[in-house]
Amino acid sequence: MFKLYVNPQNKKGHINRELQGHFSEHLGRCIYEGIYVGENSPIPNTNGMRNDVVNALKEMQIPVLRWPGGCFADEYHWMDGIGPKEKRKRMINTHWGGVVEDNSFGTHEFMELCRQLGCKTYINGNVGSGSVREMSEWVEYMTFEGVSPMAELRKQNGHEAPFRVDYFGVGNENWGCGGNMNPEYYGNLYRHYQTYVRTYDAKKPIYKIACGANVDDYNWTRGVLETTHKGGGSWANGFMNGLSLHYYTHPNGWEHKGSATDFDEKEWYRTLKKTLFMDELIRQHGAIMDQFDKDKKIGMIVDEWGTWFDVEPGTNPGFLYQQNTMRDALVAGINLNIFNKHCDRVKMANIAQLVNVLQSVILTEGDKMILTPTYHVFNMFKCHQDGELLDSYVESEEIGLEDDGRVPNLTESVSLGKDGRIHITVNNLSVEKDYEIEGILADTAIKEATGTILTGGMRDHNTFDDPDKVHTERFVGCRVENNRLKFTIPKCSVLHLEVTV
Ligand code: AHR
Repeated sequence: MFKLYVNPQNKKGHINRELQGHFSEHLGRCIYEGIYVGENSPIPNTNGMRNDVVNALKEMQIPVLRWPGGCFADEYHWMDGIGPKEKRKRMINTHWGGVVEDNSFGTHEFMELCRQLGCKTYINGNVGSGSVREMSEWVEYMTFEGVSPMAELRKQNGHEAPFRVDYFGVGNENWGCGGNMNPEYYGNLYRHYQTYVRTYDAKKPIYKIACGANVDDYNWTRGVLETTHKGGGSWANGFMNGLSLHYYTHPNGWEHKGSATDFDEKEWYRTLKKTLFMDELIRQHGAIMDQFDKDKKIGMIVDEWGTWFDVEPGTNPGFLYQQNTMRDALVAGINLNIFNKHCDRVKMANIAQLVNVLQSVILTEGDKMILTPTYHVFNMFKCHQDGELLDSYVESEEIGLEDDGRVPNLTESVSLGKDGRIHITVNNLSVEKDYEIEGILADTAIKEATGTILTGGMRDHNTFDDPDKVHTERFVGCRVENNRLKFTIPKCSVLHLEVTV
């Protein structure tokens, strides 16, 4: 029996709904086919956006979407993607798969997508191969309401009112595909470029995000912050609202990532172990950020995370198309619990990527669509969106097969939801054992507990022939006894308990 302690009196911080954000890049079949099929497609669509995909994402309450990259962002020239479609430039997407990019999905289409989804917008600007002027004019084009050349151009292109840009990234992975810079050089460019990312409407401030580190490159975090914070005074926040972090889970390292569906228990535990490293990364990068920003005004923005396996056999290696199993569900559950627990510093996180690329919530094939196990986890975790994190702790034991794959059997996070209920999300990382749990809520009378569970074999996944193999079910196994919760969490599962108090 493992005890789960919750102290509803001890609220630890606000869980931004953006912790469950997403990312869509011009990569493989994410944008084209996966989201945008064009107005003339036989696939049911609204202004070119697939209705099935949009509806599923709305159900999941997608809070924010990042676009257009990724590495693509630092090669993207936004003017190529506006105006009459027949006049837009056709070019090769050299970074991803060498296919033709016809720019039929551009700024207006992205804004239309977010309008349909009802989500916030996160635009990633081009530092690597763009100019200060290009970035500044994009922001003017999107957000300026008054008289100006760019606002005029937007109106000519059919959008009278300004668009809303909630988040703006100044470059992507500028330590790598975004220009191979060093932290000092990027830090200075950041200071320069961000100056012209202007908020034109004070009621709608643009949240500026500087490019942060890859994995455990603490030197990058320190170097960028030292550079952006030089001078102090009114620039004390280093001119930024957020600093990003990228961390992908590769079970066997970058060179031999392994199959998304064909793996053994060793790889299962190794994958989960690597996922848990996210907690250490947030702590370590956070400790450096604390030195510059002790009041935690700068948000850590984990705007790329998720599993990265070998592509599905027979698919374009540049498209990064992979299947999604119960292992991915656990990776999602573990990460989302970690983000909740660090909601004092982590203000947004974006899984890579939305549809048909890496750890997607949706896969498509022609007019067919399937929801992945990862989708179901996001759909369960939406209960935490804009909730208050509660102090909680679960007893656990170490399980796994070998030194590099030892993990705790259970992880959790708990919030007080906007609905006044207490939401507990627990992951059982074991592929062989169920665990009995007793939940204790300090000084709180429990009225009722209901739940939803996602469980299955470790390699279980949905396919176009068997689209509902992995699905959520009502969890009826939670009893309230002597004001304690009593339940057994099955092996290999993600559980959401909703407690009425
Ligand atoms: O998500 C795929 C790629 O991974 C992104 O384009 C890049 O930012 C990262 O290296």
